[in-house]
Amino acid sequence: MILRLIHSTRNDADRRQHFGRLDRPLALSQSGPVRSSPRPAALVRGRGGFVWTGSHNTRDFLQSVVLRFNARQESCVHSVMLWLNLLILAFAAVGHAELMVILVNRLDALPISRPALKRIRMAVDFSILSFPLLLLWFVGFHGPAVLLNGSWSNLATPWTVYLVLCGAGLVAFSASVIRWKTRQTPVVQISNHSRTIDVTERLGFKPIGNGKHRFLATLPLNEAFTVQVSDKRYILPRLPIEWQGLSILHLTDSHFIGNVDRPFFEEIARLSEEMRPDLVVFTGDLLDDLDLLHWLPATFGRLKAPLGCYYSLGNHDWFYGADEIRAEFDRCGWQNTAGRSIVVEHRGHRLEIAGTERPWMGQHPEFGAEPSAFRLVLSHTPDHIAWARSNSVDLMLSGHNHGGQIILPVIGPVFAPSKYGVRYAGGAFWTDPLLYVSRGLAGRHPLRLNCPPELTRLILESPNAQPLDRT
Ligand SMILES: [Fe+2]
Repeated sequence: MILRLIHSTRNDADRRQHFGRLDRPLALSQSGPVRSSPRPAALVRGRGGFVWTGSHNTRDFLQSVVLRFNARQESCVHSVMLWLNLLILAFAAVGHAELMVILVNRLDALPISRPALKRIRMAVDFSILSFPLLLLWFVGFHGPAVLLNGSWSNLATPWTVYLVLCGAGLVAFSASVIRWKTRQTPVVQISNHSRTIDVTERLGFKPIGNGKHRFLATLPLNEAFTVQVSDKRYILPRLPIEWQGLSILHLTDSHFIGNVDRPFFEEIARLSEEMRPDLVVFTGDLLDDLDLLHWLPATFGRLKAPLGCYYSLGNHDWFYGADEIRAEFDRCGWQNTAGRSIVVEHRGHRLEIAGTERPWMGQHPEFGAEPSAFRLVLSHTPDHIAWARSNSVDLMLSGHNHGGQIILPVIGPVFAPSKYGVRYAGGAFWTDPLLYVSRGLAGRHPLRLNCPPELTRLILESPNAQPLDRT
């Protein structure tokens, strides 16, 4: 009781000392009655914030209010600065991730062995995940400590240089997203009829094998077993009138490895036969397990076409046994185009079919002197498009990039093993020649999101011929 009285008395004394006589009327404006202050009362902005110019007691009270206001204002500024600095660090992390993606995409486009590429990929993944933590530690809480009211002016020079680079990465990332969002169908594409075939439904079971990454095939939303089967028509300037409606079935990137099982590819072969193309081509990455080479005769190897079946190989074939794969294709009656050009006479005109397996194997093909031949190139990677243009190629068919395999909302594809990054991840591009990059049939990792496998028949039309019925 005594203690409570002392406490109460002390509180009253403290309150009086701090606020003065609170029973006196307070004047907060120049127009109102002011008893305790001989001069007009006002809140004026001083150097350290707002200051009360009224009476002493009232002034003390209001000063405390003002101090609290200033403290709150300062706290707001600190809070805004904290979020701003966090945002800058987040942007830096995105810029760093983009730099790493640019690096790994370009390295994947080079003839580097698979184990080395795997190590590089792991290092890059680790770097992307760990960089935000490094930023927080060395920039956010230590060094300049920008998340603890520190100043960016205390940032060490190496960090400054790298953060500027991250800024460039952020700009590249933004440009990539804008390019993806504003992409357009090439002017030479006149129709696209696509249907989705659920192979699981057609077979009555999901064709998952015993491969190392089979669990990925079981994930929900995975589109690895829903194939987009398309008929796409293109007007090509140098196509002879007599070839109006010439059709080419494009197969690529089957990656036999055992995650997606053989019945899936047998079903692809059945669908291919139903499409009755004039020409069948395969543009590489048949397998990732040479023990599964015997799948070829029962799948793509059995296909036939009036103008023949042609192939060139890819980097995964180079990893696991290109010579054996070539021998098996040859036994199936397919023709190897790698590093050479094959001339086919068709309705009075010459079709030159050439292949390149650069940069992994061989050399680019030499073309014949015949300038009037229509030139078709099979190149695993789309990276040779400039070379094709300089050799008067009319159509180049590629795979390799798998469409990115995972297409993120808004952002689009991220990984594509190309010196052009994701620019040619998948689709048709009129670059004179027409470049068609298929998303392919499978992948080493059986995971596809918003990027289904594709089986496409390209139907070519001449600008000088009567248009075909496109219904
Ligand atoms: Fe591939």
